[in-house]
Amino acid sequence: MELDACIKGRRSIRRYADKAVPKEIAEKLMEAGVAAPSGMNAQPWRFVVIEKREAINKLSRRTKELLLGMGQWPENLKDAFKSEKDTIFYGAPLLILICTPKKEGWRDVNLLDSALAAENMFLTAYQEGLGSCFIGFGNFLNQDPKLLADVGVPEDHELIAPLIFGYPAESPAAKPRSVQVLRWER
Ligand SMILES: Cc1cc2nc3c(=O)[nH]c(=O)nc-3n(C[C@H](O)[C@H](O)[C@H](O)COP(=O)(O)O)c2cc1C
Repeated sequence: MELDACIKGRRSIRRYADKAVPKEIAEKLMEAGVAAPSGMNAQPWRFVVIEKREAINKLSRRTKELLLGMGQWPENLKDAFKSEKDTIFYGAPLLILICTPKKEGWRDVNLLDSALAAENMFLTAYQEGLGSCFIGFGNFLNQDPKLLADVGVPEDHELIAPLIFGYPAESPAAKPRSVQVLRWER
């Protein structure tokens, strides 16, 4: 697929078909992730790959609990967080957690590196016929290091980018964009 078409065609997908992502494709996603640039070439990305539905549901339930405990949310989100359904990871068959080692002074660059890796993974997913979505709410799981350790995120690592993937069961329209240049001096 042409890169332009890939960049413009990708969408965040929140409904998935009940079909597993082949292992080779999951591997390809992570290879695309680590092809991203990184500050001082630190390549800080570590991946935790979760396909077990019960494990994803457990993380989803805990995320909702943490979010509800945080107080003020709009009614629609409150309803979603109270729902029995997987309203966090949308029933996606593949959850990849990008984590980075906790290291004094490196958090900002780790965030940027992880975001760059995530977009590479999203574009590759789209090229392979998969949908994807960044699940920022999942980062609240950092408040439960024990549960994260249970799924494979060591306590000396931070979860930065929870990403879901799967075969899409919806095709949402593009959200409008505009290029807002504050100044362009020539
Ligand atoms: C840092 C970040 C966090 C996000 N967190 C969530 C999330 O927790 N749940 C969700 O449904 N979508 C989440 N999204 C997806 C955005 O809502 C989506 O990218 C945005 O609405 C634009 O739509 P598009 O990706 O289809 O172009 C997140 C995206 C980013 C970049």
